Amino acid sequence: MTAQLACYDEDVPAAGTLRVELEGESGPVEVAIVRDEDGELHAISDICSHGAVSLSDGEVEDCSIECWLHGSRFDLRTGKPLGPPAVRPVPVYPVTVDGQRVLVDIDAPL
Ligand code: FES
Repeated sequence: MTAQLACYDEDVPAAGTLRVELEGESGPVEVAIVRDEDGELHAISDICSHGAVSLSDGEVEDCSIECWLHGSRFDLRTGKPLGPPAVRPVPVYPVTVDGQRVLVDIDAPL
């Protein structure tokens, strides 16, 4: 599958998130579209690798997002946890911005 339309640029607030559901090869995938503090857009799995809660409900700081439940932060570029209790990364996906359109390829995680 190739990149698919996830949302429009204006849908994602500054240093904020938008939760979307995209269609993957093996079914629907929950994705958090995140705008970091520098304004760059990222796509990261919406499911925390520690406790399976929604990362899009967390707070954005610099280029990371904090899980609201236990406080692990995840790097938006790599998906790697920056601190405990999470130890496993979450998938991150390529993002292409085409004008106002934000395209994400969930079948080609970075
Ligand atoms: S559920 Fe996310 S850090 Fe525990």
